[in-house]
Amino acid sequence: MNPIAEIVEHKEVVVCAGSGGVGKTTVAASIALRAALEGKRAAVLTIDPARRLASSLGLKELTNKPTKVNRRKFTSAGLAPAGELHAMMLDTKTTFDEIVMQYAPSREQAERIIANRFYRNISSTLSGTQEYMAMEKLYELYVDGRYDLIVIDTPPTRNALDFLDSPRRLTSFLESRMLRWFLIPYMKAGGGMMRIANVAAATFLRFAKRIVGSEVLLDTAEFFANLEGMYDGFKQRAGEVAALLRSDATSFVVVTSPAAESVNEALFFGARLNESGLPFGALVVNRVHPKYGDGVRLKPRRLAKLAQGGEDARGLATLLAVEESFMRVVRLEEANLDALARKIPRHRWVRVPYLEREAVDFPGLVAVAAQIFAEDGSPHPGGG
Ligand SMILES: Nc1ncnc2c1ncn2[C@@H]1O[C@H](COP(=O)(O)OP(=O)(O)OP(=O)(O)O)[C@@H](O)[C@H]1O
Ligand SMILES: [Mg+2]
Repeated sequence: MNPIAEIVEHKEVVVCAGSGGVGKTTVAASIALRAALEGKRAAVLTIDPARRLASSLGLKELTNKPTKVNRRKFTSAGLAPAGELHAMMLDTKTTFDEIVMQYAPSREQAERIIANRFYRNISSTLSGTQEYMAMEKLYELYVDGRYDLIVIDTPPTRNALDFLDSPRRLTSFLESRMLRWFLIPYMKAGGGMMRIANVAAATFLRFAKRIVGSEVLLDTAEFFANLEGMYDGFKQRAGEVAALLRSDATSFVVVTSPAAESVNEALFFGARLNESGLPFGALVVNRVHPKYGDGVRLKPRRLAKLAQGGEDARGLATLLAVEESFMRVVRLEEANLDALARKIPRHRWVRVPYLEREAVDFPGLVAVAAQIFAEDGSPHPGGG
C-alpha cells in the first residue's frame, strides 16, 4: 500500500518536514486533501509566508483560525469529498499572545507582557519562535478534538533540523539564568544601579546600558520579570507536545528533492528522528525527472557523423544531444536516490514527478495529490 495513504488512514498528526523549497507545503496540503476525500475532518496548518497554499486552496487568505475549503472547489475539480478540509496559516505573534494570556497568573500581567516593547520585538523575530508556536497551535488543535487528522507544515528554515530543536532553544532562552540574574535585580531596583548589591551584575548592567540604552534594558528587564511564574506552564506544555510527537498518533513525512544537498539533509533528518525517538512515516521524493527508457547511447563518432549529414540527420543529432543532457540529469538524480535507498527502504517512499505546472491553484494541488497517492507511488514512466 502507498505509505502515505496508510498514514492518512491510521494517524492523527502528520508533520511534513524537509529543507527549503522542496515541496513541504504542497505535500502537507495534498495529504489533508486526501484525508478530506476519504471522509475525514482534516486540517492543514501551514507556515507559508508566500501564501502559495492559500491561493492553491482558493482562499484569499488564511488566518490563525481554521477556514473550511468551500465544497464548490471540490465539485468544480470533479471531486466529491466525504469529509472536510480546513486550512489555516500560522500567525506567530497572535499565537504567542494567546499563550501569554493562557499562562500568565493574571490578566494584568498578561497585558503588561503583551504591551512590553521587548516582547513585541521578539515575539515575531526571535529565531525558533515560529517553530515553537507551530507546535503550540498543533497541540491546541489536537486537544480540541474537532479534527480526525491534523497535518502540519514546517517553516522554510534552511536547515530542517533546526525545527526539532526549536522548543528547547526557546524555553532555554526564556529561562536563561544569566538574563534573569542580571535583569531582574535591575528591574526591581527600578532601573537604578544604586541598589544592586551584586557587583558583577551592576558592572554588566552598566556596560549593557551603554550599548543598548537604558530604555531597552528596562523593557527587557520588565519582560523577564513578568515571565516569572510562567515557566512551569511553558515547560509542561513543551513536554506534552514532545510526548504527542513521539506517540503512535503521529507520523513524520520527510520531503526531499532528488538534488544531492536536499537528499543529504533528508538523510540527516531521518537519522535525527530516529535518535530522538520520533516516528518516521514516509519519504516523499518530489520533483523527480521522469526516466523514459534507458536513453540512447550513441558513440560520439557516430553522433559526429550524423551531425554532418543531411537535414534530417542533423535534426536527429540535435535531438540526441538534448536527450543525452536530459539523461545526465536523470542519472545524477538516480545516483543520489540510490544513496538514499541504502538508509530509507524504497517501500516507504513516494516519488512525485516534476509536473509541468506548479500547485498554485486548486486543480494544480489536486494534480500533485493524485501523483502522491497513485497506488504504487511511482506512476510516471520508468519510476520505481
Ligand atoms: N512535483 C511538483 N512539480 C512541480 N511543481 C511543484 C511540485 N511540488 C511543488 N511544486 C511547486 O514548487 C513550489 C514550492 O513548493 P512548496 O511551497 O510546497 O515548497 P516548500 O518546501 O513548502 O517551500 P518553503 O521551504 O519555501 O516553505 C510551489 O510553487 C509548488 O507549487
Ligand atoms: Mg512552505
